[in-house]
Amino acid sequence: MAVSSIHQKWENLRRQIEQHNYRYHVLDDPEISDVEYDKLFRQLIELEETHPALKTPDSPSRRVGAPPLAKFGSVTHRSLMLSLDNAMNRDELIAFDGRLKRALDSQDEITYIAEPKLDGLAISLVYENGLLSTGATRGDGRTGEDITQNLRTIHTIPLRLQGQAVPPIVEIRGEVFIEKEQFKKLNRKREEAAEPAFANPRNAAAGSLRQLDSSVTAERPLKFFAYELTSAEGINYTSHGESLEQLQKWQVPVNPNISNCTNIEEAIAYYEEWEENRNTLPYEIDGVVIKVNSTSEREQLGIKSRSPRWAISGKFKAQQATTVVEDIVPSIGRTGAVTPVAHLQPVNVGGVIVSRATLHNQDEIDRKDIRTGDTVLIQRAGDVIPEVVKVITEKRPDEAVKYILPEECPSCGAEVIRPEEEAVARCHNISCPAQVKGRIEHFASKRALDIDGLGSKVVSQLIESGLVYSFADLFYLSKEQLLGLERMGDLSAQNLIDAIDTSKETTLARFIYGLGIRNVGEHVADVLARKYRSLEVLMDSTAEELEAVDEVGPIVAESIVSFFGSKENRDTIRRCLSGGVFLSVPETPEKTDLAVRGKTFVFTGKLEQFTRQDGEEMVRNLGGRAAKSVSSKTDFIIAGTGAGSKLIKARKLNITVLNEDEFLALMS
Ligand code: IVH
Repeated sequence: MAVSSIHQKWENLRRQIEQHNYRYHVLDDPEISDVEYDKLFRQLIELEETHPALKTPDSPSRRVGAPPLAKFGSVTHRSLMLSLDNAMNRDELIAFDGRLKRALDSQDEITYIAEPKLDGLAISLVYENGLLSTGATRGDGRTGEDITQNLRTIHTIPLRLQGQAVPPIVEIRGEVFIEKEQFKKLNRKREEAAEPAFANPRNAAAGSLRQLDSSVTAERPLKFFAYELTSAEGINYTSHGESLEQLQKWQVPVNPNISNCTNIEEAIAYYEEWEENRNTLPYEIDGVVIKVNSTSEREQLGIKSRSPRWAISGKFKAQQATTVVEDIVPSIGRTGAVTPVAHLQPVNVGGVIVSRATLHNQDEIDRKDIRTGDTVLIQRAGDVIPEVVKVITEKRPDEAVKYILPEECPSCGAEVIRPEEEAVARCHNISCPAQVKGRIEHFASKRALDIDGLGSKVVSQLIESGLVYSFADLFYLSKEQLLGLERMGDLSAQNLIDAIDTSKETTLARFIYGLGIRNVGEHVADVLARKYRSLEVLMDSTAEELEAVDEVGPIVAESIVSFFGSKENRDTIRRCLSGGVFLSVPETPEKTDLAVRGKTFVFTGKLEQFTRQDGEEMVRNLGGRAAKSVSSKTDFIIAGTGAGSKLIKARKLNITVLNEDEFLALMS
């Protein structure tokens, strides 16, 4: 193909992908399916692979992260990054309007633009000739950190401003944030990986942006809204409203909840409305920002040392209140974590009645010295469970004594164990009623015993009717018993019995995984099955023996030992085996293929000749490891049709890419 037509093709693809990106990430209104999008993306990658000169910094293929940095560079902002004065209530907003009218020497109503004040992280973006050139944190307002690589990974930040005649230099300010739902998901994932959870969405956003390895940032669900167009060389906008419209024309995301107000009363109505409805937004806001609309009025008003005179933040009332701790009650989570919870005298916190607050763990209780009877200051941040900020010690009753978590599980009476160097105490009894439902669901899940038809509702019914106390009881159920359950017909009952029967013949690895031992995921379960080849031997092994196994560290070893140390757990396992569970053991590791053994494989895209799960099993059978995400530790990536960001990342890291046939050849 002639150079010019290759370039044309690339340009065309890039534009299409940018448009679909914008429709998907900003407008939330995709026009094509994911598969179609992946196809375009792959074409772009292929073209760029064969013609590396096309890999420009604004290519959509550049959003997956770049090689890690040793440290961030610093950036001097083109103009100061200002902060805002606060108004705490309606009167202070009226006073603000009065001040402005006096300064402008006019009694005419001032037109304002009111915006949600997002609780994330302020950033500055500079575009040179339409291309994103620098992205930075606020820092001290004068200089910030250069986080361009990280900001490139945020899909809603355009790498190129769309449209004709973009000014040579454009500077935009806005907020990077994480939505509340995504924040919860991220924390759940971190907990599963035994990483510390983020305290709130703001910290999660900040932590994600300050990563030296941008491929970590790329995996975080960050979003962006622009709120100021600070400069667009050569253009003078007469109002803020007009500049926001311009931003949207360039396809820069702007918060859709921004509103025009013809006077301060309308702005106050906006403030009061969002104070009332803040919880309906998918992200957290801590107030609203009220800004003078007219550019000439802004210029007349000017700035003070750190903040503009023409804007103010209307802060919401603190989501804090004082109340009394009536009781401290341990609560047992699905995985056995024992969390002390304060039962409070009900109190109104920012419009919501609160009667519980988490005390996290014994260390937190000790550090804050929280006792039953104490008067405490509590706070609520968005959807996060309320917590105790501090004790008002002056109000402590004389009889209040220090609280210590019980040594026995309040639900089942088993011993509560807190491993050294861990903050969380746990009940390790897998038949503990407080944990049973989640444990049974995990045991029956696809990658464990794979019991078809044992959904969440049926599990609840089985527990509530007293038919099942632990997952071992599943193997003793009869069809007649099932027929006694509500809405359980003859056919479903028979199907479930058959599925349980089929599940009895399983592998040692699946069974170990299904036990739900903390820190033992699918991969570790597989390693243990290969090494021990016998459940009995594994159950009796010591921490030292376990630590000698490749990929088992002290934390995993400790989890395993304390799991099998519980008499209740051993009994449950025995009951499974007596109920007919038969565990097959994998081939010996000696038989494994050297090309595969110890190597890490990642599958991506749509596979035609085998399922992803089968592929992973083949890898494990030969002593390899199957992972879900690409990192520098990945050895092979198997790319099916429509492979997208994982493939790009793999190419960047120089990882061997195999197609299905090549993979099958390697396996045989
Ligand atoms: S305007 C000169 N608008 O609030 C104007 N700020 O203290 C300066 N913020 O950390 C900011 N939403 O990141 C503006 N719609 C909005 C905002 C907003 C959140 C943050 C900003 C900064 C703080 C200002």
